[in-house]
Amino acid sequence: MKKAIYPGSFDPVTLGHIDVIERASKLFDHLIIAVLGNSAKTPLFSTEERVKMLKEVTKHIPNVEVESFGGLTVDFAKAHNANAMVRGLRAVTDFEYELQIAQLNHVINPEIDTVFLVTDLKYAYLSSSSVKEVAAYGGDISQFVTPLVEQEVKKKFEGKIKGKE
Ligand code: PNS
Repeated sequence: MKKAIYPGSFDPVTLGHIDVIERASKLFDHLIIAVLGNSAKTPLFSTEERVKMLKEVTKHIPNVEVESFGGLTVDFAKAHNANAMVRGLRAVTDFEYELQIAQLNHVINPEIDTVFLVTDLKYAYLSSSSVKEVAAYGGDISQFVTPLVEQEVKKKFEGKIKGKE
């Protein structure tokens, strides 16, 4: 059985992430979305909120499950008997950073390989940070996230739209 993890912050999950998840779910028998819990960055959404949204937006994909994790991604992969981790690549700038992490992870655990999926051109510009930035100024994020996530993001910024204080 080919098992992979797809680690990330998913703060929040975007249509770009969902595209990667759908494609990765066809390459592997089982895909675990691994939501980073304890990060140096302060997330907009709690770990539980991010896991809940991911479960909701991936419920149409039977071989996908969502879990949170702390610690090293390679350790999470090993604990779940996964020998691959999936990452999306949007641009050359992503590549430099991702290549370094993939090499580092491979040194830490050579049994786990990183598989890069090139992001669909439609979502090449998209990131969770840009979704939050647009929402913070009261902009329309409906082209970037699912309606459920759009509602959840809007709730977070209710009453604190920048430039309208
Ligand atoms: O979606 P993101 O924020 O780009 O995801 C980054 C993530 C979670 C994949 C990365 O921060 C990570 O792997 N964190 C866990 C700690 C770890 O394994 N570090 C080793 C590589 S630096």
